[in-house]
Amino acid sequence: MSMQPDRQAPPVTAQECAKHAAAAAALDHVRDGMRLGLGTGSTAAIFVALLGDRVAAGLRVTGVPTSERTAEQARDLGIALATLDEMPELDLTIDGADEYDPSLRLIKGGGGALLREKIVACASRRMLVIADASKAADVLGRFPLPVEVNRFGLGATRLAVERAAARSGCDGEIALRRRDGEPFLTDGGHLILDCRFGAIPNPEALAAGLAAVPGVVEHGLFLGIAGVILSGNPDGTVTSLGHPDVR
Ligand code: A5P
Repeated sequence: MSMQPDRQAPPVTAQECAKHAAAAAALDHVRDGMRLGLGTGSTAAIFVALLGDRVAAGLRVTGVPTSERTAEQARDLGIALATLDEMPELDLTIDGADEYDPSLRLIKGGGGALLREKIVACASRRMLVIADASKAADVLGRFPLPVEVNRFGLGATRLAVERAAARSGCDGEIALRRRDGEPFLTDGGHLILDCRFGAIPNPEALAAGLAAVPGVVEHGLFLGIAGVILSGNPDGTVTSLGHPDVR
């Protein structure tokens, strides 16, 4: 445990201001006693820091983190944590996104936590997305789609991903994610293929095709999962998309 809780520095840039606004607005959806999925990424980290302040002031919630780094941050802030084994159903998950479209479809996984993020979001009655407005896209695909794959059979899996993508009208560079020159490993010990498809004409068809590839552990298309997107604007206002009671 670190000596100092991981509090957030005040927002400086317009994008930080937008992320902060979205994260702060998400607090309005949190109620005493809730079981919360805690997302991963810079926007989710702002939310967790703000939640930590509320917990310090007496709010009682239990969080299920979507990554080791979120777990560490939450633990340092004194937020009670549980696993999905202990708490298989959650009230609300609050997480960021790399891209969202007007139908509340998402690309996630820029931080490499997509598998746990999707498991936690799908174990929740509702998923609330917090993002800055730069993540909005008319058509998904500007952000490279992360696909988490098993280490075994990487070459064959990459080829199968390429073929599945082609069948849904997508093609483009598929690159193994690296960090410090080494293959990036997820919390689950898997690899990530970042797929630069550009515009994805049919996300549902691509998702189904990718899910059918044996070596694919999970992909970063979150379809029909987010119920609300709180989109922060650079001036600190927040635009809400979707409906709070709808998954
Ligand atoms: C983590 O794996 C991702 O899904 C994040 O939610 C996503 O990358 C958004 O991160 P930022 O809030 O840092 O943009």
